[in-house]
Amino acid sequence: MAKLLIDIHTHVYLPRYVSFLRARSSVPRIFSRNTAEGKTEERLLILDGEPSGGRPMGPQYWDREQKLSFMDRHGIDISLVSSANPWLDFLPASTAHSLANELNNDLEEYCSTSPSLSAAGGTTKRLYGFGLLPLVPDVPITSLVDTVKQITKLEHLKGIILGTHGVGKGLDDDALEPVWSAIAEAGLVVFLHPHYGVDGKEWGKKDNGHVLPLALGFPFETTIAATRLILSGVFDRHPDLRILLAHSGGTLPQLSSRLASCIDHDPIVASRLQHDARYYLGKLYFDAVAYGAEELGFVSDAIGRAEWFAARPSSAAASKEQGLALRALGSKRMLFGTDHPFFPPLSSTEKWKSVVENLEAIDGVHGWSETEKDAVRGRNALALFGIPSAK
Ligand code: URA
Ligand code: ZN
Repeated sequence: MAKLLIDIHTHVYLPRYVSFLRARSSVPRIFSRNTAEGKTEERLLILDGEPSGGRPMGPQYWDREQKLSFMDRHGIDISLVSSANPWLDFLPASTAHSLANELNNDLEEYCSTSPSLSAAGGTTKRLYGFGLLPLVPDVPITSLVDTVKQITKLEHLKGIILGTHGVGKGLDDDALEPVWSAIAEAGLVVFLHPHYGVDGKEWGKKDNGHVLPLALGFPFETTIAATRLILSGVFDRHPDLRILLAHSGGTLPQLSSRLASCIDHDPIVASRLQHDARYYLGKLYFDAVAYGAEELGFVSDAIGRAEWFAARPSSAAASKEQGLALRALGSKRMLFGTDHPFFPPLSSTEKWKSVVENLEAIDGVHGWSETEKDAVRGRNALALFGIPSAK
């Protein structure tokens, strides 16, 4: 089978959504302003209290040709494209429901009319997608289940991107139970992605641009959401649920033994879960958007250790001899991503540093053979998303 490079973490603001944001006067919004050179530029403002007047916004955020040319420049064969944050989170329920349906159809068209992977045609497309759910307070749960059904019927949508707020009470909300059932039954992959970060007061008064919310706030948010899902027992009730965590799971791998220990010592939670907390890392998938080989190696160790817990539920620690074997096992749940069009280089270069660093990180993981590296670069994505693999 040909070796493919597949990007599973790459975003779009579809034209319909861009028009919607342009028409708004409060965050999230897209606005125009004049530059010092007397030109007009568009800016994207999506985070509460976002510094520096947001970020420059251009066609790389919505134009499919730019996505494809970015892919060509970086040797990316296939992308699984998701709408970028904050999705529909800020909308009233009825608008969110209708816009979700329209954007899911738009994304299906964006993918289904994309070029085929082989010059000679063929069934494998270069673009597949994650759909959206109208996850907002007061939405009837039936609307969410109906939208899962809509996405299931759209051939090129292979999953659903979710933020962390659910219908207002987080993802451990009991009300979401029918949604997890419907997603698991449909075999769709959930891509859990942050937007809100943590309390902005933590960032102090210094102007540190976007660094603290993006480098720390995003991964902390994902860590909290994934931990709450584990604590809610969702993986015990839905063992087939496939959840992919953004940014290599934030700090969950690093904190998973501490989490297990806190659970073991907590009179309320100790008996709630069927497994040691570390076991649940082996139920999750992790993107490889960590920018460093040591971090990827560490994440794969923590995932690999979950296999140990699955086989030996009461055992305390993986044996040392198992080290590299567990690391190889863990790599099966990790997938290359770029976060395009975010993190563009500050000055123009042929290749984006954010992409090159993530590829070099995969290449540099101690103990991963070429087989494991190829899996993280593409083979895992083919299997996880059921993409027809003929080139
Ligand atoms: N900034 C965002 O707002 N979203 C991303 O996915 C990455 C950076
Ligand atoms: Zn992202």
